[in-house]
Amino acid sequence: MAADPSPLHGQRLLVCVCGGIAAYKAADLVRRLRDAGADVRVAMTESAQQFVSATTFQAVSHHPVRTTLWDAGAEAAMGHIELARWATRIVVAPATANTLAKLAHGFADNLVTTLCLATTAPLTVCPAMNHCMWLHPATQANMALLRERGAQVIGPEDGPLAEGESGPGRLAEPAAIVAALPA
Ligand SMILES: Cc1cc2nc3c(=O)[nH]c(=O)nc-3n(C[C@H](O)[C@H](O)[C@H](O)COP(=O)(O)O)c2cc1C
Repeated sequence: MAADPSPLHGQRLLVCVCGGIAAYKAADLVRRLRDAGADVRVAMTESAQQFVSATTFQAVSHHPVRTTLWDAGAEAAMGHIELARWATRIVVAPATANTLAKLAHGFADNLVTTLCLATTAPLTVCPAMNHCMWLHPATQANMALLRERGAQVIGPEDGPLAEGESGPGRLAEPAAIVAALPA
């Protein structure tokens, strides 16, 4: 019998995009997740929209993109609670230091953090940031809390960073993120 070509078939993945340079790579991630058989929806933080437009994610996910908690139309149809319930997994990529801190401490002050708090689905975070931000004791303590609570952490990778320095902080490659997600 032929192997299943779609390892993520049947999964409903909510990709939450945060405001980092690596936000552009999240479009490739969404495309690859769809290619792997997943049904994908995208939510973005306000900062993420400074880096990539919602139109890009709408095109690659083939679905409307949620960009704010305060969307009367979306809340009338597929509200944030329904979206949080719909997901079989939430993937935060790239996960900024700011959003990781909020998730670690249970904040619900924007669409992405509210979705993450309102779900019972497992959480995957894919951190991406400057190496000093990543190595800061505050970020490391936040990561320890998230790991303790069962979050899957993919990356970051070591290597050249956008600001011209090098160190741990690069977003894991989209293909590596897809491969690391539980089938
Ligand atoms: C040009 C630029 C690049 C940034 N890149 C990152 C990044 O890669 N990782 C990160 O954690 N923060 C980065 N930041 C800072 C975040 O955008 C900022 O902390 C923001 O509040 C994050 O909001 P969010 O977590 O709601 O998306 C960057 C800011 C700027 C102006």
